[in-house]
Amino acid sequence: MKKFNIAVIPGDGIGPEVIDEGIKVLNKAAEMDTSFQFSFTYFPWGCEFYLKNGKMMDPDAIQQLQEFDAIYLGAIGFPGVPDHISLRDLLLNIRKNFDQYVNLRPVKLLKGAPSPLISIANENIDMLFIRENSEGEYAGEGNWLYKGKSHEVVLQNSVFSRKGTERIIRMAFETAKKEGRSLTSISKANALNYSMVFWDEIFEEVKSEYPEVETSSLLVDAAAMLMVKDPKRFEVVVTSNLFGDILTDLGAAIAGGIGLAAGANINPERKYPSMFEPVHGSAPDIAGKDISNPLASIWSASQMLDFFGYKKYAQAAIDAIETLLLEGQILTPDMNGTSSTSEVGDRIVSIMERMISHSY
Ligand SMILES: NC(=O)c1ccc[n+]([C@@H]2O[C@H](COP(=O)([O-])OP(=O)(O)OC[C@H]3O[C@@H](n4cnc5c(N)ncnc54)[C@H](O)[C@@H]3O)[C@@H](O)[C@H]2O)c1
Repeated sequence: MKKFNIAVIPGDGIGPEVIDEGIKVLNKAAEMDTSFQFSFTYFPWGCEFYLKNGKMMDPDAIQQLQEFDAIYLGAIGFPGVPDHISLRDLLLNIRKNFDQYVNLRPVKLLKGAPSPLISIANENIDMLFIRENSEGEYAGEGNWLYKGKSHEVVLQNSVFSRKGTERIIRMAFETAKKEGRSLTSISKANALNYSMVFWDEIFEEVKSEYPEVETSSLLVDAAAMLMVKDPKRFEVVVTSNLFGDILTDLGAAIAGGIGLAAGANINPERKYPSMFEPVHGSAPDIAGKDISNPLASIWSASQMLDFFGYKKYAQAAIDAIETLLLEGQILTPDMNGTSSTSEVGDRIVSIMERMISHSY
């Protein structure tokens, strides 16, 4: 029997609540298929850990995590610890050290999910964002000169290497080719006259190797407008770290809300563990009330199943989310329901069980 060792970092706020429900889904898949199982090891890292120890994680956290097949993360960040510390020292630290240079974010409007776009057909919102996840605007390079003086100067540099830019664009072309879908590149070469001119040039270079893939290139401001006005034109999308971060929140807003948005941080070579997480934060305003929506965390569990090659169970989890939304009975308050986080998770696994044993 194949055993997957998963490092679980529940994190802060609603992180632990939503992670519990994703783990129910992973365990249900393993229970229904006797060829694999999961073993979960929990790490108490996050803001509470920081307030006690002055660090977001153990000093040898990266070595500890290296041993695992994947990392399952809840959410990080809480009042009392500056966000730039919690985000950079934990989340970005893991992404960078494990060369998780691909951030996969599906933007798909499931049946029954709410969208502020009036009368939009579900099939017209079905995008896969491939966001550069290791450098770009989030490289953490810069300087703060003459701090506190009237003439202080702040520099925040973006880093676009040929290797980093080419590999993410190539991965996007490979995905578009495999899925038989178009590829849109989003940049901003008219204003960012080094980094984005370079991005566009590399996109053109790699494109010449994939004549079968239909492509388009958009400026990020136009892309933001078109995602609302004409979302069906986006299929596979490749963009930089910052633009991808912002546009996928817009994607979440048009495709069911932040409670449904999942993301996977992938090291495609599988040299290091990849990390799966909901896109939302720790939601301190509702933490501990058992009303957080676990669907994004469950969707990211589905991405993990897919990553390990268990497409049937990955799809069953998504189909179960869709069925739950269509039933409209067991939903958390952010989706106008009255159910608890754990009730939603329980319903998902019971739908999954029924689907897998009957029709799959
Ligand atoms: N990946 C991450 O770990 C991550 C991502 C974003 C923000 N953060 C951190 O989270 C903290 C809070 O940030 P924020 O308030 O800007 O964003 P947030 O996503 O935590 O919350 C924004 C709003 O959405 C609601 N919300 C979020 N997830 C929900 C869910 N699953 N169910 C129901 N409602 C949900 C919250 O109640 C809040 O009203 C900050 O410290 C921030 O740095 C972490």
